[in-house]
Amino acid sequence: MRQKLVVGNWKMHGDRDLVNRLVEGIIDAAPLVGDAVEIGICPTYIHIEQAAKLLIAANVGIGLGAQNVYCEEKGAYTGEVAAPMLAQLGVSLVIVGHSERRELFAESDALIAAKFKAVQASNMIPILCIGESLEQREAKLTEQAVLEQLDAAISEIGIAAFHNAVIAYEPIWAIGTGKTASPEQAQEVHWLIRDHLAKQDAAVAAAVRIIYGGSVKSANAKDLFNQADIDGGLVGGASLEVNEFISICKSAD
Ligand code: 13P
Repeated sequence: MRQKLVVGNWKMHGDRDLVNRLVEGIIDAAPLVGDAVEIGICPTYIHIEQAAKLLIAANVGIGLGAQNVYCEEKGAYTGEVAAPMLAQLGVSLVIVGHSERRELFAESDALIAAKFKAVQASNMIPILCIGESLEQREAKLTEQAVLEQLDAAISEIGIAAFHNAVIAYEPIWAIGTGKTASPEQAQEVHWLIRDHLAKQDAAVAAAVRIIYGGSVKSANAKDLFNQADIDGGLVGGASLEVNEFISICKSAD
């Protein structure tokens, strides 16, 4: 049985007060969410240490995540943050290849694969994001687009690396738009991804968690998470409100 995983991606939101309120609120409410669900939060880089202190003191098993990382271990890379630095702060999950990074910061498949490797080399778990644009979906190129992104990672990293990774299917047209993929639309792509992995390694395909992202909220989470191949969610906007986020986490139970 794959444990469900619900991760809040706070993107570029929050100040010190909001981070305190969110982390403390999630810590207080976490016992209401069953053990069958793993919870993670990804604040901005500069708020990670603040969140880490609260999470360590509370010790309720909420995973700390980062939204990005650089692939090199150290060096003259102004403005970048290395995987060992994140690991030292207690980070266990790192998002790589989010569509906002692919689109707004021109991240290539090769860079994303290098980041994935760097995350695992520091004993953290990468959450590899893949997903099609609206144009690709309308042109019936969803399968091609999603599997191309997946294959680009597998060819660099190898299938075995997915034993210790999470895949997030995030259709770009559903991110921040309020337009969620229907549970059936999402399940279809999650199944495609798992089936594609199964052709290369059945054990990896059975074990890897494939979570869904794109306008997940309490009103649609249960139907999404009930699908056979949807193992939880990567939640943007709705993770910035404690009650809404906890209600989404409970939907995965
Ligand atoms: P929203 O939940 O705001 O649509 O964002 C999804 C997302 O991009 C999570 O990584």
